[in-house]
Amino acid sequence: MHLPHQHYTAPSQCTHTPPPQFSPTTHYVPPGHHVLPPLPYAYNALEKVIDERTLRIHHDKHHRKYVEDLNKAELSLQAALTNGDFTCIKHWEKELAFNGSGHILHSLYWTSMSPSDSGGQPHPTTQAYLDRDFGGVPHFWAQFSAAANAVEGSGWCALCYNPYFRSLVILQAEKHQNLTQWGVVPLLVCDVWEHAYYLRYQNERAQYVKNWFALVNWPEVELRLAHFLAGRPDQR
Ligand SMILES: [Fe+2]
Repeated sequence: MHLPHQHYTAPSQCTHTPPPQFSPTTHYVPPGHHVLPPLPYAYNALEKVIDERTLRIHHDKHHRKYVEDLNKAELSLQAALTNGDFTCIKHWEKELAFNGSGHILHSLYWTSMSPSDSGGQPHPTTQAYLDRDFGGVPHFWAQFSAAANAVEGSGWCALCYNPYFRSLVILQAEKHQNLTQWGVVPLLVCDVWEHAYYLRYQNERAQYVKNWFALVNWPEVELRLAHFLAGRPDQR
C-alpha cells in the first residue's frame, strides 16, 4: 500500500470492529454515568502472560475506582457550573483528568490484548503506516519496547495516530493525570503561557483571558468539530 507523505486518508480499512461497550467514546455518556466495561475475555484467559489474580484486581478494583471517581468529578463540576462556584476548580479538573485518562486508557488496554495469538502480523492499513513511519514492524517494536521500558515509575506506552501531523507516533505517558484526558481532540485552545500576553497584560492573565473571548473563531471550531464527528480527523 502506497502512502503519500501528505493528504493520505486516515486508517479506515480495518474490518475489525471492537465491541461497542469497550469504546468509551462511541456513545455519548452523560456526566456521572460512566460504567466499568466488562472484560472481552475471562479473567484467566491471558494466563500465559498475565495471571488471573492480577487481571481481576487490575480490572475490578483499579479500573472500577477510576470510573467511580470520574463520575464524582463530573458531577462535582456540573454542580459547580450550576452554582457558579469555581473555588475548587483546580481540584476537580485534576480529578477529571486523572480518572478520565485512567478510564480511557484502561478501556483501550483491555482491548489491546487478545487471548488468541494474532500471528504477529498487522493488518494492511496498519502495516502501511508502520512501514512508512517506523520502517516496519521490527523497528516499530524496537522503539515501542524501548519506550515502554524507559517509562519512569508508573505510566503507559502508546502507539497513537496524530491527526494534525497525519502520522503514527509512539508516546510515553509517565503521569496520565497531567491535566489531560488521553484521546481527546482539542477544538478551541487558549495559550496562557506568559509569552502570549505578558507585554500588554503583565501578570493580569485574567484580563487577557476575558478579552480573548472576543477573538474566538467559532466557525473554525464548528469545522473542526464537524470533521472529527464525521470521522475524518485527517482533513483538518
Ligand atoms: Fe492499570
